[in-house]
Amino acid sequence: MWHILGAGSLGSLWATRLARAGLPVQLLLRDTQRLKRYQQAGGLTLIEQGQAQRYAIAAQTADHPQPIQRLLLACKAYDAAAAVSQLAPRLIAGAEILLLQNGLGSQDEVARAAPHARCIMASSTEGAFRQADFQVVFAGHGHTWLGDPLDLQPPAWLADLHQAGIAHDWSVDILSRLWRKLALNCAINPLTVLHDCRNGGLREHPAQVTCLCSELTELLHRCGHSAAAENLHDDVQRVILATAANYSSMHQDVSQGRRTEIAYLLGYACNAAQRHQLQLPHLHALHRQLLTHLNARGLPSH
Ligand SMILES: NC(=O)c1ccc[n+]([C@@H]2O[C@H](COP(=O)([O-])OP(=O)(O)OC[C@H]3O[C@@H](n4cnc5c(N)ncnc54)[C@H](OP(=O)(O)O)[C@@H]3O)[C@@H](O)[C@H]2O)c1
Repeated sequence: MWHILGAGSLGSLWATRLARAGLPVQLLLRDTQRLKRYQQAGGLTLIEQGQAQRYAIAAQTADHPQPIQRLLLACKAYDAAAAVSQLAPRLIAGAEILLLQNGLGSQDEVARAAPHARCIMASSTEGAFRQADFQVVFAGHGHTWLGDPLDLQPPAWLADLHQAGIAHDWSVDILSRLWRKLALNCAINPLTVLHDCRNGGLREHPAQVTCLCSELTELLHRCGHSAAAENLHDDVQRVILATAANYSSMHQDVSQGRRTEIAYLLGYACNAAQRHQLQLPHLHALHRQLLTHLNARGLPSH
């Protein structure tokens, strides 16, 4: 059984694909009010290439007594540890938690909240957004890497992902992948917020991008992720060009007045630099400017 917490963008994308492949799925919703609204909606709707299909997937609240063997955690990074703490009494011995959160830091928080569960980390390039409550648009096909730094053996249920058509690979170096994605995010997303531009707008600020990439490269080396540091600047420039017309996820969050995951992205990078006593002035200045920007808009800085 796949227990999926969070019927947001990624949670719905996973739940609908697993369910339509005939696999047992149980959604975990926030409270009875959300459950009632879900029941009124009649299920989750997945919109793919303009075609909508509704799936009447079973749902329950966190306080349901059913034991949980495998949990797909599909909430934002800042909600992850609290959500798992709430479910901890339901996790059976040998339970596994698949973590879809972007950035770094929430994985450790979850591991502390559920010390006996196996935590499998994921890094995904898939894209989805909520068009309405319980309606999700599959916006960008991509790939998901999964891995567990403490146990390199892949779990048997990867076959379920194959069956559900979820493109994936088991990674023996998932932390490097997460660090690389975090570095790309730190070099692009905050600047798009501060310059209020699409990703392509950063072509007008090459010196700032270059400085950040050089500091991030130093940080990755110091944190022991040299593979993630390789050609970072080239990759950042490639992403800026390839996604020139897009607004970054952080830009979208800020412009829509939504809380960002800054503490698990740029905030995490700055903390890591401090821990290693690295002087990264541009990264810290960017962090301060972003916090000021968020505060001015009444958005949380964590
Ligand atoms: N969307 C993408 O394309 C994408 C791509 C790559 C990575 N990611 C990462 O994936 C993670 C999830 O992102 P998302 O875009 O799917 O977020 P989202 O659309 O905001 O969905 C998060 C869901 O988690 C639910 N939730 C939070 N706490 C809960 C709790 N205690 N119990 C039950 N449900 C709870 C929320 O419930 P409510 O609806 O009740 O608020 C919401 O439905 C993020 O870290 C994001 O950065 C997303």
